[in-house]
Amino acid sequence: MAQLWGGRFTKETDQLVYNFNASISFDKKFYEQDIRGSIAHVTMLARQEILTEDEKTAIIEGLNGIKSDVEDGTLEITDKYEDIHSFVEANLIDRIGEPGKKLHTGRSRNDQVALDMKLYTRDEILEVDALLKELLRVILDTMKMHTEDYMPGFTHLQKAQPITLAHHMGAYFEMFKRDRSRLIDIHARMNTCPLGSGALAGTTYPLDRNYTAQLLGFDGPTLNSMDGVSDRDYLIEFLSAMSTIMMHLSRFSEEIIIWNSNEYRFVEIDDAYSTGSSIMPQKKNPDIAELVRGKTGRVYGALMSLLTTMKGIPLAYNKDMQEDKEFVFDAIDTTKGCLALFTGMLKTMKYNKANMEASAKNGFTNATDAADYLVKHGVAFRDAHGIVGQLVLYCIDKNIALDDMSLEEYKAISSVFDEDIYEAISMKTCVDTRKTIGAPSKEAMDKVIALHEKYMIVE
Ligand code: ARG
Repeated sequence: MAQLWGGRFTKETDQLVYNFNASISFDKKFYEQDIRGSIAHVTMLARQEILTEDEKTAIIEGLNGIKSDVEDGTLEITDKYEDIHSFVEANLIDRIGEPGKKLHTGRSRNDQVALDMKLYTRDEILEVDALLKELLRVILDTMKMHTEDYMPGFTHLQKAQPITLAHHMGAYFEMFKRDRSRLIDIHARMNTCPLGSGALAGTTYPLDRNYTAQLLGFDGPTLNSMDGVSDRDYLIEFLSAMSTIMMHLSRFSEEIIIWNSNEYRFVEIDDAYSTGSSIMPQKKNPDIAELVRGKTGRVYGALMSLLTTMKGIPLAYNKDMQEDKEFVFDAIDTTKGCLALFTGMLKTMKYNKANMEASAKNGFTNATDAADYLVKHGVAFRDAHGIVGQLVLYCIDKNIALDDMSLEEYKAISSVFDEDIYEAISMKTCVDTRKTIGAPSKEAMDKVIALHEKYMIVE
């Protein structure tokens, strides 16, 4: 057991208590951030003449030595230490002796851990954002290639009106673009430095908190030391943003699973992103999409877990907060993994345009346009709705599409129909005439795609 405290204790900690209390098994993940924070802290302490220049130099050299030894494997982070802070400090003292004992001057593990977690997640927010941007690139490239490839748009999972593959993809572009803006908001709001908050009430040393904040790339110091050590809002926001990303990935996965099914055959997931069955030789399963859909639950779980952990904690730091780490780390790794795999799957997926178009045609997705045709020829919409309803019934009976009916058959139901009905209800017309911004026509989509291209350059 290697602890940073013990002076006021007369007994050793019970081994089970020690194990229960320790966090090294998971907080070793931010050894680099812990060292980075310590280097900034001692740099400031020396500038404020709280430490000498020699002490500062010795400490920084020692810390950098620990970092490179951990990285090249010569120094192992073992559970002999209570947490990563104890590991770094104990190793520093072993290495450089007396000056090492001054590292923790004007600091508490409470502001230290608050800083480490912020530094860690701040980098991760940007990594998740970069992965989202890669996904947006693939979606946008897919949109550009398919502005005239028709497919059914659904409501209630029933074929509704024709759209294009570009339009469908464009919906996901919007979702993941909003996800990115949420991450950027969180990044801006969380970017204040808690170091210098001490245990809860600041310190009596003349710390320059603006300087440490600046050294660590923060916009400034946190303005209340109690809040500084006990704020975990940004983690909750990050988990919420990741939950939303996962929700979007999960919806998209669900659609891909449906599209890839034997019944739909709209897409084919690449062999590299599919798996087989141990018993059924014909199977090629969409496991990656299913796993992404499944892992969404883990990330939601992390959000609920931290919300629940935080809800009854009085100010300021309480040990409950140590529970913020494992779930957040897991949620980050899960979200990043899912984003990377999903992007790869999407990039290599093949689209079966003929099946998509046939499905749109055979699903009466042009029925609204047939009714609109009648309206344009003087029939009231409600009557037109009824007439087209009869056409649909007739087609279902004969197992044909509206496009397959002869003009005589049309005229038998309403004399208003004429030769131009075929043109009016073609997939091309149905889509091309929906020109308002946000609608599926090529004209509208090209405008949106141009805006997205600009966004990809600027953001
Ligand atoms: N391992 C602790 C955590 O993650 C570090 C802070 C410990 N502070 C304390 N007062 N015991 O929260």
